[in-house]
Amino acid sequence: MSHSTVLITGANRGLGLGLARIYLEDGWNVIAVNRSSSPELEALRNGSLEIHCCDLTDDTQLTLLADTLDSRAIDVLINNAGRMAKSGADESAHSVQGFGHFDRALWHDIFDINLFTPMSLSELLVENLARSERGRIVTISSMLGSMALNTHGGIYAYRASKAAVNAIVKSMAIDLAGRGIIAIAQHPGWVQTDMGGKGADIDVETSVAGMKSVIDGLGPGDSGKFFSYDGSEMAW
Ligand SMILES: NC(=O)c1ccc[n+]([C@@H]2O[C@H](COP(=O)([O-])OP(=O)(O)OC[C@H]3O[C@@H](n4cnc5c(N)ncnc54)[C@H](OP(=O)(O)O)[C@@H]3O)[C@@H](O)[C@H]2O)c1
Repeated sequence: MSHSTVLITGANRGLGLGLARIYLEDGWNVIAVNRSSSPELEALRNGSLEIHCCDLTDDTQLTLLADTLDSRAIDVLINNAGRMAKSGADESAHSVQGFGHFDRALWHDIFDINLFTPMSLSELLVENLARSERGRIVTISSMLGSMALNTHGGIYAYRASKAAVNAIVKSMAIDLAGRGIIAIAQHPGWVQTDMGGKGADIDVETSVAGMKSVIDGLGPGDSGKFFSYDGSEMAW
């Protein structure tokens, strides 16, 4: 699918960077939206990559971004930017988000980027998605947001933010079906990024190749579903 356009949030590192790379390799136009760029993202610069830097949790800045994109068709919006821990890779979500450690400010920060930004951007870009023949909203969720798969407890704020984002995916799938827009949630696997850590199951290349293949193959009957990177369906 050449000359299609994908907008990826948090494309400066981790899975977002991997997604930007694989879409560029496949000939797509990539719109990377991050709070800052990175040498790795800059190294991908070619005529098909544009980089926008803004505060993804500021709706005024997101509205300005949408104004800049104007009436351009966007085929795929990937709501990828997200956070788990308080700051940095070393701070375990298990220790800071266990029962007995409620921190309202931390919950707000996590919900801000994991839930509020996907909701806001999806609304702001819906006309761009509707202009595509195959508009898709792909929200990177996590198996940690699944009720059915929660066998370990803990990680309250992150789990709740991903469960909440799953809920908006489900409603968008219903509300936007008439406009031909598909909305899904994706679990990327447990991936070797700053968030996933070095000991995670799979590398970024495996995860993004799997996720792209799922996205490429989506049909209307898939809207409102929760897929793993390997194409299997996840339990809510
Ligand atoms: N890695 C895994 O095993 C795993 C598993 C399940 C789900 N996920 C999900 O996959 C997505 C990508 O995760 P990752 O593993 O690539 O994590 P990562 O390497 O930590 O990268 C996180 C990305 O999100 C951006 N971000 C975080 N907080 C932000 C904020 N407040 N405003 C703007 N951007 C923000 C970061 O930008 P900065 O560089 O500016 O901080 C970065 O681009 C997330 O939604 C995550 O929840 C990951």
